[in-house]
Amino acid sequence: MANPDSTLITHIGELVTNDGGDGTFAAMADAALVIDEGRVAWTGPASRAPAADSVVDAGGRAVLPGFVDSHAHLVFAGERSAEFAARMAGRPYQAGGILTTVEATRAASDDALRANLGRLAGEMARQGTTTLECKSGYGLTVADEARALALAGEVTPEVTYLGAHVVPPEFAGDPAGYVDLVCGPMLAACAPHARWIDVFCETGAFGAEAAAAILAAGRAAGLGTRVHANQLGPGPGIRVAAEAGAASADHCTYLTDADVDALTSARVVATLLPGAEFGTRHPYPDARRLLDAGATVALATDCNPGSSFTSSMPFCIALAVRDMRMTTQEAVWAATAGGARALRRADVGHLGVGARADLILLDAPSHTYLAYRPGVPLIAAVWRAGNPVPTRYGV
Ligand code: NIG
Ligand code: FE
Repeated sequence: MANPDSTLITHIGELVTNDGGDGTFAAMADAALVIDEGRVAWTGPASRAPAADSVVDAGGRAVLPGFVDSHAHLVFAGERSAEFAARMAGRPYQAGGILTTVEATRAASDDALRANLGRLAGEMARQGTTTLECKSGYGLTVADEARALALAGEVTPEVTYLGAHVVPPEFAGDPAGYVDLVCGPMLAACAPHARWIDVFCETGAFGAEAAAAILAAGRAAGLGTRVHANQLGPGPGIRVAAEAGAASADHCTYLTDADVDALTSARVVATLLPGAEFGTRHPYPDARRLLDAGATVALATDCNPGSSFTSSMPFCIALAVRDMRMTTQEAVWAATAGGARALRRADVGHLGVGARADLILLDAPSHTYLAYRPGVPLIAAVWRAGNPVPTRYGV
């Protein structure tokens, strides 16, 4: 429920609004912002701020839009720290590790899954994420996928059906039969719980033809489309995403020039997930190349127990700035407005008048500190739809 009283946040050292005319990064110094009925009601110079029912003094610190994490896999049980340790010791990442989590997830109770999901969503909130997307993909039966989506729907409306994560062991001899299940009875059970459909288009998961068929079935069932594309090597994922009119192609780690062209001309958001490259020792995606070609770039955590077990958007921003040649402004835009574009949301990711009042108060004077002080808990306060979100870790 929205806070009925208006709140003035004043003495903001840097207010990042992302509401320049062209929707690019925009910020103002010595600013103030008014929240009313869960929305941004006013922004401008602190010296001209109107009165409100309550006042928060930012003391020269920065205020940013809440982060929009458009790619996460939070419904799972079990853990895979040994796989991570083995990778750091030189072993390669394999998509097959997903099946370890599938086994644990199928065996888990609803309450165990709900507790883990709530813990991770809470971690995200404390690190400034105010909108999150959450996928299924560790159930891979009709009942387990529908259960994962119903649970995800308890924490976010941005719910994604990922029955096409990998082929489960019981269909190892009949992958086409599994695609039929994903496009048929599983989709019928899952579509009512989801807004999006996703497919892992990769060697060892689903090829171009199967991926295109799965996306077409999802679209016919009323779902928006997104694709895990070109994560572990070059491949057809980007082309499939562009042909399907997907909102987003995620990972984009191995791209040809034709892939970059396809992303820009089909206006598919390139969602980069540097936590996955950190956790698998693959090279980071070349954000600079995408930005220079005119692509829209988003950043997300890909929080999952296998490739990227971080819930921290500030960590991803720091990696993007340090290792992906993004400017601090580009990285913050990608983690806010970029994520909103990847989810086709106009109400979040910016602080223009009328936006949902999702915002972060940083314990720092500017957005640059998110990369300049990596690993430091800089999120002093978070509001979602105008309501304060608890930011301290309890015991
Ligand atoms: O986005 N790429 C596929 N899915 C996840 C990995 C999931 C896992 O390893 O459990 C990803 O990286
Ligand atoms: Fe993923």
